[in-house]
Parts: sequence; structure tokens; C-alpha cells
Amino acid sequence: MDENDVSLSTATRSLLDEIGEMEKDALTELDGISSGQELEEFRTRYLGRKGLLTKVLRRLGELPQEERSAVGQRANALRRKLEEEITRRNQTLRREALARTLEREQLDVTLPGLPFRRGTLHPLTLALREIVDIFAGMGFSVFESREVETDEMNFVLLNIPPGHPARDMQATFYVNPEVVLRTQTSPGQIRGMRTYQGRLPVRFVVPGRVYRRDPADVSHHPVFHQIEGIAVDRDISFPNLVWVLEEFARRFFGPDTRFRLCPSYFPFTEPSAQMDVSCIICRGKGCSVCKYSGWLEVAGAGMVHPVVLRNGGYDPTEVTGFAFGMGLERLAMLKLGIDDIRLFYSCDTRFLRQFA
Ligand code: DAH
Repeated sequence: MDENDVSLSTATRSLLDEIGEMEKDALTELDGISSGQELEEFRTRYLGRKGLLTKVLRRLGELPQEERSAVGQRANALRRKLEEEITRRNQTLRREALARTLEREQLDVTLPGLPFRRGTLHPLTLALREIVDIFAGMGFSVFESREVETDEMNFVLLNIPPGHPARDMQATFYVNPEVVLRTQTSPGQIRGMRTYQGRLPVRFVVPGRVYRRDPADVSHHPVFHQIEGIAVDRDISFPNLVWVLEEFARRFFGPDTRFRLCPSYFPFTEPSAQMDVSCIICRGKGCSVCKYSGWLEVAGAGMVHPVVLRNGGYDPTEVTGFAFGMGLERLAMLKLGIDDIRLFYSCDTRFLRQFA
């Protein structure tokens, strides 16, 4: 059946003619469609409930009864054809879009990558490693003790009983009346001696974090680090201590560093001494860092008190020992020329990177 069939009514022929025209128009239009949105608009315009094809079907009633179904079939065939064409066009559009995306987002894996900045070791870590190396070279091993410590270990066994004035010098963080955050690495002396029980000689350093209830300023921080050292053997005497400290000072601060020991007092050593080195900043001439004295205090030290030896499980009538304790931050500040202890804890990468 077609629009040229003269046996058909004029109305039918004209409607078929319209359907034919519509098909031609639609196919031409479809070819020019370049986006999904346009395609949707096209679908609505032709196939929607108020679309062109629906309008044609509404007019079937105007045709002679026996010609209606053939025209209806023709219209439905066009609907199917357009649906297929729309699907095909849609696929083509998507393929083209994908090809464009792939072209646009092409990745050149041979391009050089972004530079990746390496982290650096913290200046305290660097200083500590160097210090531990120096003592290891003198036969000291490393003993790691506890940061949360009993009051007994931190004070009593070091000859600092309750009420002792030395407690006032170390503003203590108490966890409960029996437990503290260690204020010094000295309790590591007792724990270490008890661990190496009976062995002679005993030589170890105890590096680690300590805590004091001090407000932070240029030279104080509530968390800081100490390196404790102790040597116990038969016939250890004060000159052994002097040699070890002097050797340490020369190796850490340089061969020209001058060194002196002054009498001092610590409850856990007898006699006790304070170790000074010639000011690293002004080389002994006098400056604000050494308060114009030319000297800097860097460690406390002394011969281990007999009570402490006994508390560590050694017999003070058979052995003697020396001990020392120094502040890691202070050593690092002097060596690296850092003028504020708070910088170590500032997490400022501009500061940290300088010591790579
Ligand atoms: N523990 C002392 C302090 O924190 C430092 C110290 C002094 C440690 C003398 C020692 C020592 O081992 O013998 O101030």
C-alpha cells in the first residue's frame, strides 16, 4: 500500500504521503543530531504522547474503516524504525564522546613525575644518634627504661625519700600518689642494674623522654630528653668518670672544647660534680648564652652513691661506679646553634628541614 495507489481514498493517500514525508524529514534531522539532549528532544517531538506521529494516528478515524489498519501499521512501522535509529544514533554519539575523552585525557607516562620531598630526621634524633654512637664507642650499651615510673624508682631508690628537698627541684607530674611521669632518666640506673644483675663491668646509657611541670620558655619545656649513663665495676674511680666525660665533650663538640668539673650535689652520687664546657657560641669569650661566664653547664655527674648501688643489686663494698646525666635538648641547641627549646616541638618543617 502506498500513497500512489489510486484505489485508495484521497484522505488515506494524503496521510500516507505525510507519513512518508515525516520519515524523510526525521531521518535527515537525525543525521544532524550531535548531543544526547538533542536526541531526547527529537524523540519527544516525533514519538512523544503529543508528538507528530501520535497526531497522525489520531487522524485514522477520518479514514474509511477498511483502510485504517494498513495506515496504522505503516505508522507503527515508522515508530519502530525511528526508535531503532534513535538507539543507533545514541550509541554513535556515546562512542564519539568516549573517543573525544580518551583523546583529551591521554596520559603521557613518560613525563617526569612531580618531585617528592624526602622527610628529614628530627634534630633531636640526629643528636641522640651521635651521642649514643660516641658512648657505644666507649663500651656503653643502650638501656631503654620507662617513662611512666613509680615514685619509688624515680625518687626513693635514688636516695630521695619523701620530703627530701631535692624533690622540689623537679616539679613532678603525678599519675597517682605512687606513680609519676619520670622527672629524670636516673631511675633507669636502678632498672638497668637490676636487669644486668651481677654482671661486671656494667656500662650502659639510658636515653629517653622526661617530664617536668615547668612552663615552656626559651630553655624549659614540660617534655624534654635526658641521657643517663652509668658504669659499675671493681676499681672504678673518679678519674674514669673525668676521662669519659671529657672524651665525650671533645667528640661531640669538637677537639678544641675546653672542659671543667665543679663540685655539686645530687642525692644519688657522692661526690657529685657539674660538668661545664667552654661556651660553644663565643668560644669562652663571654656572651648572653653563657651569661658572660664563658662556660656552659652540660651535665651532672658523680660517683654512684652506695645506697643506689645496693638498690641496684650490687654490693658497694665490692664495686664502685660513676654516673652522669645530661639534657639532650641543651646539647643539641649548643651544637646546632638553636636558641629556643620550643622550636624542637613546634613541628615547623622550615625549622626541621635545616638539619637534613
Ligand atoms: N638526674 C639529674 C637531673 O635530672 C642529672 C644527673 C646528675 C644524673 C648526676 C646523674 C648524675 O646520673 O650522676 O638533674
